[in-house]
Amino acid sequence: MSETLILSARWGKPGSAKLENYRADGGYQALDKALGMEPVAVVEEVKKSNLRGRGGAGFATGLKWTFLPKDIRPRYLTVNADESEPGTFKDRYIMEHDPHMLLEGIAITCLALDIHLAYIYIRGEFAKQARALEAAIAEARAAGIIGPRLLGKKDFALDVHVHRGAGAYICGEESALLESLEGKKGYPRLKPPFPAVVGLWGKPTIINNVETIANVPWIVQHGGEAFAALGVGKSGGTRLFGVSGHVNRPGVYEKPVAYNLKKLIMEDAGGVLGGRKLKAVIPGGSSAPVLAAHEIDISMEFDAVKAAGSMSGSGGVIVFDESACMVRALARLARFYAEESCGQCTPCREGTNWMEGMLHRIEAGHAGAADVARLEQVANSIAGNTICALGDAAAMPVQSFLKKFKPEFLAHCELRRCPCGDTAWGLTQEPRDAVAGPMRYAR
Ligand SMILES: Cc1cc2nc3c(=O)[nH]c(=O)nc-3n(C[C@H](O)[C@H](O)[C@H](O)COP(=O)(O)O)c2cc1C
Repeated sequence: MSETLILSARWGKPGSAKLENYRADGGYQALDKALGMEPVAVVEEVKKSNLRGRGGAGFATGLKWTFLPKDIRPRYLTVNADESEPGTFKDRYIMEHDPHMLLEGIAITCLALDIHLAYIYIRGEFAKQARALEAAIAEARAAGIIGPRLLGKKDFALDVHVHRGAGAYICGEESALLESLEGKKGYPRLKPPFPAVVGLWGKPTIINNVETIANVPWIVQHGGEAFAALGVGKSGGTRLFGVSGHVNRPGVYEKPVAYNLKKLIMEDAGGVLGGRKLKAVIPGGSSAPVLAAHEIDISMEFDAVKAAGSMSGSGGVIVFDESACMVRALARLARFYAEESCGQCTPCREGTNWMEGMLHRIEAGHAGAADVARLEQVANSIAGNTICALGDAAAMPVQSFLKKFKPEFLAHCELRRCPCGDTAWGLTQEPRDAVAGPMRYAR
């Protein structure tokens, strides 16, 4: 498989975020090319590319763009830069090291879809990345790349705003994001109508992840077919996989979309920490169902991971070695979802707290087998019963940990303590000190 680097090629180069360096590396040539194309032809290339959303659901990007009603204006583009899912840490590198690549993707997307105002909704904690984006936008405005005339060549007004969130996971959910952008509390909206039809201020709005949009310049420059050829079936291109947890070389790796998960962990990420045995892997961000060690010899392509019973989601690969206490790890995840539930839907608001409490009791050896069964019931009654997918995101880890590792939960009940001992890793303790090198983006 090809080792083409689309997104990370410029990371780490001195001054990679600067406009002059981006231009020297061929930046904004794709926008120039797009200016000479019919908008519909740009959309066609994206459809042909088999680009699928990198924010989690893997929805076909070109197809999403065609859902915009033909006759309603204005339309908006909103780039989802919330990146709050535990285990996911890739969009931040694009924004920090190559903000003009994202900006070029935004400009091409807006040109193709007749959109004149774009927002980048960025997670509140990302101060550095927000500053990098603001600086890039200011440079692009000053150079006449955006503003009243695109690239100073075409009467097509485009403005881009960075909107900083306040650090809430729920605001990564697209409709909660829109509410927040409108100045309201980040409560998800009922769907349908989907944002492409009724979005920001009631107008048609395309919402795409940072990584998704950052691929657009390459697709225009090299053609949709070349992008599709980097992947397989209905998934084209490369992806940024963030590998964390018990590996020797944690970091962000750009690989073809259908890269083998076992190879990613055992070869690229340097294998399991301390030469210990692998126990489990969460392949696509914390909400993706966990895979046992023997299940990881699979392609990371969206449909392949789905067939294996999980999700490649946001590409956040979390690795557990044999020293991990799965109850402790799940309790840590449950704490996150209980904290981040917006509270709008009863099953999620109440259920996430119940699950967290039960998991802490099981971990401490204060629970019995009936509590483990109840934990499963609570997870099952959250899944599918909430307005947004945060409920599913909270339930899926619980359901899958219990499916794959139930004896470990029951052992906590029988022994009335954690059988893994005090030194066991959950996700509460970061094994960062034990890692050979610093956290890095790597290939
Ligand atoms: C609770 C929750 C949190 C989410 N957080 C993010 C996020 O931080 N970034 C992101 O791009 N998508 C996130 N999503 C997915 C978005 O709702 C949406 O599907 C995505 O931004 C669409 O972009 P894409 O098609 O390019 O992937 C989240 C979804 C849910 C349910």
